[in-house]
Amino acid sequence: MKEQQKSNDRKAHWEQIYSNKSSEDVSWFQPKPGRSLALINDAGITKDQAIIDVGGGASRLVDYLLQAGYQQVTVLDIAQAALAISQQRLGHSAKQVEWLTADATAFKLDHPVQLWHDRAVFHFLTQARDRDAYIRNLKNTLTPEGTLILAAFSPEGPKQCSNLDIVQYDAQRITIELGPLFKLKHMEQEAHTTPSGAVQSFNYFVFGYHP
Ligand SMILES: C[S@@+](CC[C@H](N)C(=O)[O-])C[C@H]1O[C@@H](n2cnc3c(N)ncnc32)[C@H](O)[C@@H]1O
Repeated sequence: MKEQQKSNDRKAHWEQIYSNKSSEDVSWFQPKPGRSLALINDAGITKDQAIIDVGGGASRLVDYLLQAGYQQVTVLDIAQAALAISQQRLGHSAKQVEWLTADATAFKLDHPVQLWHDRAVFHFLTQARDRDAYIRNLKNTLTPEGTLILAAFSPEGPKQCSNLDIVQYDAQRITIELGPLFKLKHMEQEAHTTPSGAVQSFNYFVFGYHP
């Protein structure tokens, strides 16, 4: 399939999800993304260094990052409808955030970031070509010695999310996928309880980028 068509289909899927469903009812909803916040805090970046939440959707991570005093936060998502939910929730504070409606496999940021966060986005890239494009963007955007925090379904987790196939990751698989410039520093497992009460096994990986 042509790359543009694939990206359009992906966007249509996600725009429809966020237009038809409450953001608090989607299976990935977290009232407070505690683990992400703790890992970001532990990464030791200063409050004026840049963070991007890739595929941030309508996540409340951005709210908590602003509350914690981070001054350069970018939220990227393929679905404009998702970003609109966060913007509305944040009200006046939304102005402090850089919002980007874009495909993570095809975007260019005009500034580098010290921390790249992705919860449950990379795992949707089931084709090597898309993963390569994502990783190329990651390398172009993350500063040397920067931090990547990536959360994906573990091999004990679901095989699908939002009716789409995903790739499950353990430490070995994600390390091979990202290549030798990313060094795994730490990983944590999380049992995420969905709004309907199902339990999903996630792995959170923290990598240092050493080009
Ligand atoms: C499972 S949700 C996770 C949302 C958020 N990270 C969280 O933890 O609440 C996946 C998100 O990735 C976005 N997404 C999917 N594919 C994407 C892509 N190729 N580029 C950018 N965003 C994408 C979707 O719109 C959706 O918001």
